[in-house]
Amino acid sequence: MKIAILAGDGIGPEIMAQATKVLGALAKDGLKIEMEQAAFGGAGFDACGDPLPQATLKLAKQADAVMCGAVGGPKYDALPRAQRPEQGILRIRKDLALFANLRPAVMYPELVGASSLKPEVVSGLDIMIIRELTGDIYFGEPRGRRDNARGEREGYDMMLYSEPEIRRIAEIGFKTAMKRGNKLCSVDKENVLETSRFWREIVIDVAKAYPQVALSHMYVDNAAMQLVRNPKQFDVIVTGNMFGDILSDEASMLTGSIGMLPSASLDANSKGLYEPIHGSAPDIAGKGIANPLATILSSAMMLRYTFNLDEWAYRIEAAVKNVLAQGLRTADIHESGTRKLSTSEMGDAVVAAL
Ligand code: IPM
Ligand code: MG
Repeated sequence: MKIAILAGDGIGPEIMAQATKVLGALAKDGLKIEMEQAAFGGAGFDACGDPLPQATLKLAKQADAVMCGAVGGPKYDALPRAQRPEQGILRIRKDLALFANLRPAVMYPELVGASSLKPEVVSGLDIMIIRELTGDIYFGEPRGRRDNARGEREGYDMMLYSEPEIRRIAEIGFKTAMKRGNKLCSVDKENVLETSRFWREIVIDVAKAYPQVALSHMYVDNAAMQLVRNPKQFDVIVTGNMFGDILSDEASMLTGSIGMLPSASLDANSKGLYEPIHGSAPDIAGKGIANPLATILSSAMMLRYTFNLDEWAYRIEAAVKNVLAQGLRTADIHESGTRKLSTSEMGDAVVAAL
């Protein structure tokens, strides 16, 4: 199994070093993996003038799976859009056709106190957000700047979904729901947007093949509110690219820290790119205080979803739970009575717990 390692920017290299440490430890135990690094994001721009250098894309295409750290930073904010680090991640998603983004939000019992919500609202929380990742206003054309009839400058983007795009992500939503609690909530803005009316129509049609699954629909503004009011009403949420971007950040915070949540972005054959859902956190980069657990847990998702190695995935997840149960914490989830570890100490602790 060949894995492309794209550490990226900010805290990316620090957290990725911990995930490769964990995978390296499993390799010594017989997991047959090979890892190769490539420049990506701002680091790709620095090395080759392109956030997704040709050689990096080639490696990602050849590899069986891709692991990403994070991209972006203030150093690159003034670049034209095509050269910004974020374009690296958007292009690799599109070029590898990674249309299904799985973002689980799971509450670990040890971290209930780290959530900004009351313990009774979040304890036992286990939601799967499925975000469509290669369509919507993120990729719709036309987009750009123009002068309108009054001679004023305007900016515009196109929200657009084709029927096959909606069908295939809805299928993933129903199939995922059947492996869990048989409940699927489709989030849209059907009261305002034509794209959403179409989305809802297609989701209802796909639902005919999944009578076991209880399908509900919710407007995105209400969903944002329900996620903090009573998040445990949700099992699986399926939604478009833009709404999913926003709701998954919100859901992550329910669990105590955005530093805990992994993600998988899959193509139609379960080849995938795995990354933490958090960003490059330039403010804490290089300080050795970032939480590597989201990246480590992303490597577990890789073993499960791309390689079907449930037992190896479970070993990583169990090691993470073990470390939390020992009271070991990075700064973002540290509370009194627990022991504060650096990024690499946390990686070591997970390896020791394997
Ligand atoms: C995410 C990020 C990206 C997105 C950015 C970095 C382009 O916020 O993965 O959620 O908007 O998809
Ligand atoms: Mg986001």
